[in-house]
Amino acid sequence: MSDASQIPVTRTASYEADPAQVHRVLLLYSGGLDTSVMLKWIQDSYHAEVVCLTVNLGQPGEDYGVIEGKALQLGALECHIVDAREEFARDYLTPAIRANAVYGDGYPLFTALGRPLIAKLAVDYARSSGCDTIAHGCTGKGNDQVRIEATIATLAPELKVIAPVRSWQMGREEEIAYARENGIPVKGGTESAPYSIDDNLWGRSSEGKWIEDLDHAPDDDVFQLVTRPELAPDEAEIVELTFEQGVPVALNGRQLGLVELIETAAEIGARHGVGILDHIEDRIVGLKVRDIYEAPAAALILPAHRELERLVCTIHQNQFKGDLDRQWGYLVYAGLWWEPLRGDLDAYMDRVNERVTGTIGLKLYKGHVRVVTRSSPNAVYDASLASFSESGGLFSQTASPGFIELWSLQSRMAWRLRNE
Ligand code: ARG
Repeated sequence: MSDASQIPVTRTASYEADPAQVHRVLLLYSGGLDTSVMLKWIQDSYHAEVVCLTVNLGQPGEDYGVIEGKALQLGALECHIVDAREEFARDYLTPAIRANAVYGDGYPLFTALGRPLIAKLAVDYARSSGCDTIAHGCTGKGNDQVRIEATIATLAPELKVIAPVRSWQMGREEEIAYARENGIPVKGGTESAPYSIDDNLWGRSSEGKWIEDLDHAPDDDVFQLVTRPELAPDEAEIVELTFEQGVPVALNGRQLGLVELIETAAEIGARHGVGILDHIEDRIVGLKVRDIYEAPAAALILPAHRELERLVCTIHQNQFKGDLDRQWGYLVYAGLWWEPLRGDLDAYMDRVNERVTGTIGLKLYKGHVRVVTRSSPNAVYDASLASFSESGGLFSQTASPGFIELWSLQSRMAWRLRNE
């Protein structure tokens, strides 16, 4: 096949690269089939040099030495391996926790949170390595292209983008053939395509294969992170999470840095089968897609945070914040991490979270998580006021009928008008 013929001739966006101007490309490299084929294909069809960048966001089981070796063997000028777990936890997961961030019916946004950081690092490394263009392996049907390209176009208007998977006409068979012809090691054979996986500290998603059949219940082999609930221990386990200003700082009384705390929570949650979500999602590009998510750390931390926040906030704050949380989650899902509204919302989240300090106990059992204990110096709670037995002090039960009469006044008037 003639490679140069697959370079797109028409460009729809101003940031898409003009092939004549591509001299050195920063490739976001995962070590998988797509980006390995890409590494070779860019050198051949653009006659350009390629610098690779691989970002560690805490995806388990990755051998970065092997990835680097493979990149260099396939002709990369250099391969940068960056451990961005601390930055990811501090600058992306912390605001997400404060915003109780989920999209749709509970997707904790791990991919959506990771992409702007990966793209920001791509910009940094492209600049420091003298690249004029950034290449990534996203398809033209997903959200990730939006998140990555919106980030690059925002932070680095001088850099151009190429997304070969969107333009080359290769299917999986052709990619494997291309790999074989070009000495690119291919794991496994030409048998059916594997699940499409994305993962980091905060969770793991699987797409493709039978997942695209909406009436196909999950096959067991999709769960590679979380123990299937039916195989989880018969004994329940209590986990205590302590927060300071909305950030988890200790697990079962042991102070931990955020990365280690999330990894520990993930391990415990995974053991008990929590954090599985079988989710139909409205993508930004219009498609409805099914994902299988495994997010054991988020399944512990988010409900604990939400509970503590509700305890220290008033009814009015609690009514209001849910709407802002949803807006925050939507912006991040939709690839608008750098949109100023997100920063404005963060200012509110941070302010509210100044009081979100305390400890929440969770009970884990065969796929379920339930809050069982709460304590906070800032709880807007007084056991003697809430108690059924007592009256007096700040709360007088004899005042309640007068309150009810006024509280229900408009509703009663309206009812009468409609029913007379
Ligand atoms: N549907 C999720 C999202 O849009 C997960 C995407 C996973 N990405 C991937 N390249 N496999 O955030």
